[in-house]
Amino acid sequence: MEILNNFSTISLALFLFISSALFSLTSGEIHRHQFVIRATPVKRLCKTHNSITVNGMFPGPTLELRNGDSLQVHVVNKARYNVTIHWHGVRQMRSGWADGPEFVTQCPIRPGGSYTYRFTIQGQEGTLWWHAHSSWLRATVYGALLIRPTLGQSYPFPKPNREAPILLGEWWDANPIDVVREATRTGAAPNVSDAYTINAQPGDLYNCSTKGTTIVTVHSGQTYLLRVINAALNQPLFFAVANHKLTVVGADASYTKPFTTSVLMLGPGQTTDVLIKADQPPARYYIAARAYQSAQNAAFDNTTTTAILEYKSAKKGNALKPIMPSLPAYNDTNTVTAFTRSFRSPRKVEVPTDIDESLFFTVGLGLNNCPLNFNKSRCQGPNGTRFSASMNNVSFVLPRNLSLLQAHQQGIPGVFTTDFPGSPPVKFDYTGNVSRSLYQPIRGTKLYKLKFGSKVQVVIQDTSIVGSENHPIHLHGYDFYIIAEGFGNFDPEKDTSKFNLVDPPLRNTVSVPVNGWAVIRFVADNPGVWLMHCHLDVHINWGLAMAFVVENGVGELQSLPPPPPDLPVC
Ligand code: C2O
Repeated sequence: MEILNNFSTISLALFLFISSALFSLTSGEIHRHQFVIRATPVKRLCKTHNSITVNGMFPGPTLELRNGDSLQVHVVNKARYNVTIHWHGVRQMRSGWADGPEFVTQCPIRPGGSYTYRFTIQGQEGTLWWHAHSSWLRATVYGALLIRPTLGQSYPFPKPNREAPILLGEWWDANPIDVVREATRTGAAPNVSDAYTINAQPGDLYNCSTKGTTIVTVHSGQTYLLRVINAALNQPLFFAVANHKLTVVGADASYTKPFTTSVLMLGPGQTTDVLIKADQPPARYYIAARAYQSAQNAAFDNTTTTAILEYKSAKKGNALKPIMPSLPAYNDTNTVTAFTRSFRSPRKVEVPTDIDESLFFTVGLGLNNCPLNFNKSRCQGPNGTRFSASMNNVSFVLPRNLSLLQAHQQGIPGVFTTDFPGSPPVKFDYTGNVSRSLYQPIRGTKLYKLKFGSKVQVVIQDTSIVGSENHPIHLHGYDFYIIAEGFGNFDPEKDTSKFNLVDPPLRNTVSVPVNGWAVIRFVADNPGVWLMHCHLDVHINWGLAMAFVVENGVGELQSLPPPPPDLPVC
């Protein structure tokens, strides 16, 4: 009897295990899309530009799916530029060939070419986005990627009545590709943008922009989920809605312990999901965003973009002027600190301990001196230099003829080296008065090798070389726990005690405090080549990037499959 009982328990458990395994293999839906990249006339700020778009849409199509679903996006390039699409924040478990950064995981899709990105969403819920990962094309080639809970599951908060993606963007009254090409030629900082946008519309504080302003209609008493995405190229942004509190419930497609705030700050690349209740007198309220500018003495776009939160029962017509929220001062770092330190995972999480790789990366700008016989027009940076940027003094250079992932998988030498330093080659007072002799990084395509499954900690330290700044550092292929942040130089003696190993937030992009540091941890469980970079595109151009090469583990389930047959060739 006893034995029989045990046996039936075991077989029931086995049955449940097998059926749930089968269920997870087969439950996801496959979503197929076609993205045609092409020039489209787009009128903003009184002028029409031939902007590169997806399917003629700006912003591009919103992709909606559930955790566990798969995407197959067939990208056809009918533009005159090379292009790739990156699925920002998607973990891409063993699907690195679909990650998208050009010359990192693939050669770009040439004009006339095509490529199908195939991947599955595994264990991620919330808001991500997609964007071009080639030159500055993402200025107009981007869209939302909304991941709902698996069928039969629900949000860990009361189901909102409705939801809306809120994409914050940046607009140049020029061709953004020309803007970055000119900066690359001269070595100077590129022109700043002429407007910010909400769902690709600047809003009625700008010329010729009243028509088309984004309107979010709400019904009194209802709750809305706003999925806020900072898709701007170069600017961290504050975000607020007049007279309404925002309850943060997620970020970067991970849930957070809910907290209430009147203002958000998002670095480019970051997303924040907030609940907002229509509990104010029926009227029109501005949704607004403007710069958080932490760098001193640097030009920035100081304009304000708006959309309108409009109560259904409010009196009709534009006659009713919307109420404006108060936004923090451009340089209000205290507000940013209070905000970022409010993030927690919803419950106790398993933060990696027994660290195998303890890394320390400096991030910051640099200036390259120009050779004596160099053309002056190409040295338009400060004091006749060219702007540069680096991690651990290496200014990252992309290969031109092959992607890093192909070179790694096929064992092709001469494309990269694996000597990226795990700590700064020279130690100095990173946030102090740095000697000019330390201003010039070296150029290189240096990667850092990680064994499969290794537990990694990275201290990311801002430097004051040229000028300190809040850098949004993004890691491809991974989510990481942000276990601490602070100002000044990271001090292992006293700062280790500040580590949150209980409920730190899980993210894919960390806003490293200006003149400060942040500590992240992750397990290297996804084989491939994964870019880590500042998500201010101007800094990527200057080399503020590196890449990890994560080796295969044991067996098929810990290895990167061979490349798909349609992977573009260089
Ligand atoms: Cu959202 Cu490497 O980028």
